[in-house]
Amino acid sequence: MDFPQQLIETIQTAQHIAILTGAGISAESGVPTFREAQTGLWAQYDPQELATRYAFQQNPRLVWEWYAWRRELVSQAKPNPGHLALAELARRVPRLTLITQNVDGLHQQAGSRDVIELHGNIARSKCFDRDHSVVTWEETGKVPPRCPECGSYLRPDVVWFGESLPAEALHTAVTTAKSYDIFFTIGTSAVVEPAASLPITALKNKIPVVEINPQTTPLTSYCDYALSGLAGEILPALLDALEV
Ligand code: APR
Repeated sequence: MDFPQQLIETIQTAQHIAILTGAGISAESGVPTFREAQTGLWAQYDPQELATRYAFQQNPRLVWEWYAWRRELVSQAKPNPGHLALAELARRVPRLTLITQNVDGLHQQAGSRDVIELHGNIARSKCFDRDHSVVTWEETGKVPPRCPECGSYLRPDVVWFGESLPAEALHTAVTTAKSYDIFFTIGTSAVVEPAASLPITALKNKIPVVEINPQTTPLTSYCDYALSGLAGEILPALLDALEV
């Protein structure tokens, strides 16, 4: 796989690389992207209607069981060559900031550190009423389980549509946006805000933006480099090209 020489040189001389990833980088690990059809029992539901505070209030059992199903899917998934290549890239460059919209924890499993999880993490649960993290609780057979401190429902520690992102995660992602030498957007449809604005901010700051996606997105035509293909293939090839 050939890459533009200028892209290779920009990466080789970069002091600070930013990476934004979306569900696409976990697709090759068998984790369905957010907008592809769901399977089995959940095929009848639209994720964007389940991943909301309103849906949980209307039917807490249904939403909790949907996340339990996704947690089970994710628990069987392994990092793919795309995740592993990003963890390796971080070891080769002076500084790399990895921002993910994914809640599957696969970047961390691949060895990436200080991952900024814009949308939380499906493996964590928290109190619905008071928002504090809950690590252990008594299994009473109630679904959803209850908070041991206040008896409220537990909920997944993920950001639902309409909810604000974890302030610190977003602040870090935005404030460092001006200090990057190159910005990669990988496996994201680039439509959900505020994550979708991060590459736009990079473009406004004249920072080269690289998109890796087998499909075009609303961002593609604005990118300096649009690498069409699978993250699990392009990223290892890019790493090899840096060696030369
Ligand atoms: N390599 C790279 N990109 C891929 C691959 C792959 N192997 N497979 C699919 N893609 C691309 C798709 O073409 C699509 O553009 O990944 C993107 C996945 O888009 P979405 O399913 O919209 O996922 P994402 O962009 O992460 O969604 C953003 O929206 O639904 C909410 O909170 C949810 O975090 C999610 C956010």
